[in-house]
Amino acid sequence: MKDVILGLVGVGRIGVMHANNITALNDVLNPQGLNVRLRLTDVAEDHARTVATGLGAEFLPSVAALLASGLDGLVIATGTGTHPELIRAGVDAGIPVFCEKPVALNVADALPVLDYIRYRHGVVQIGHQRRFDAGYQEARRAYQAGELGWIHSLRAVTCDMAPPPVEFLASSGGLFRDCSVHDFDILRWLTGREIVEVYARGSNNGDPAIGAAGDVDTALALVTFDDGTVGTVSATRYNGAGHDVRLEIQGSRGSLMVGLDDKSALASAEAGIPFPAGEPHRTFAERFDQAYRSEMAAFVEMILGRRDNPCTPEDAVAASRVADAAQESLATGVPVRVVQTVAR
Ligand SMILES: NC(=O)c1ccc[n+]([C@@H]2O[C@H](COP(=O)([O-])OP(=O)(O)OC[C@H]3O[C@@H](n4cnc5c(N)ncnc54)[C@H](O)[C@@H]3O)[C@@H](O)[C@H]2O)c1
Repeated sequence: MKDVILGLVGVGRIGVMHANNITALNDVLNPQGLNVRLRLTDVAEDHARTVATGLGAEFLPSVAALLASGLDGLVIATGTGTHPELIRAGVDAGIPVFCEKPVALNVADALPVLDYIRYRHGVVQIGHQRRFDAGYQEARRAYQAGELGWIHSLRAVTCDMAPPPVEFLASSGGLFRDCSVHDFDILRWLTGREIVEVYARGSNNGDPAIGAAGDVDTALALVTFDDGTVGTVSATRYNGAGHDVRLEIQGSRGSLMVGLDDKSALASAEAGIPFPAGEPHRTFAERFDQAYRSEMAAFVEMILGRRDNPCTPEDAVAASRVADAAQESLATGVPVRVVQTVAR
């Protein structure tokens, strides 16, 4: 049996999920003669030791010790502000890196990281997991095959049930950079087009601490694509009906909705309509369970040289550039042009 050794930095909200998914990969990989072994670290040592023990993983006391232990790949799931430094450390170790989105708190901080990765010939996959979601993949296929005719409107929705801790929000870069960046990424990936202008508005009717931390709890951006098509991207931290992530694409010949199933966090206002009948998703981890598993499997496939990078840092920074423009529009109250300077 050949070992593939992954090191994970950060076992908070999403890091624990990645740790579980990495361990579960062995159900698929063991029959192929491969065994994924997990080593992890976190500055919250006691918590990290507990996670490691629960998963049969190895705890290491620092990132330096983790990298020195001899890894085949590094997974970064720490807060956004630490990503640039940890990506550089992984690249310096000469191993493929998976880093949660975004590359950095803003594009200005991310560009030197892109230069560094290119200069050192690093391989870095960024965690835009929606690219692995079966619904978004089908929508992309239908869009690109022209099955919907010409597209007149796109409406992307990302609704959390409840806000994350205010300390997290204060260091997240803002609602568009933290949440809607997934929608900006998926719109670019799905349409193959660039967003050239963003006009954003937001509101704060929930916990006043969110406003005090410099963020909004709800926001909407009107986006214009390079062919003139218009769309909206909306997000909130207060969707009591459930965790709701959808994309509606309407065309001259047909319409399609990603995320419309029995678990949709919606109810019909029409009499006698039982749809959707299931329990709504409550968290991003539930909504994208299959996608998160597939993206981690893709990282291992990339390490093994069996596939290309499914989400490059350049892709991620392009989405962040739209998010930066949305944050700027939110702050200034005027539409902001988006100019992409990094080639696809
Ligand atoms: N792809 C997605 O759907 C998705 C969802 C949630 C979060 N994220 C991203 O994942 C990242 C983490 O988010 P989270 O909600 O899990 O945060 P979190 O605060 O819950 O967890 C971060 C963890 O990293 C640890 N940590 C921080 N700095 C460290 C360092 N230098 N060395 C070792 N450990 C360190 C913290 O102790 C904590 O346990 C963020 O960048 C966020 O944008 C992505």
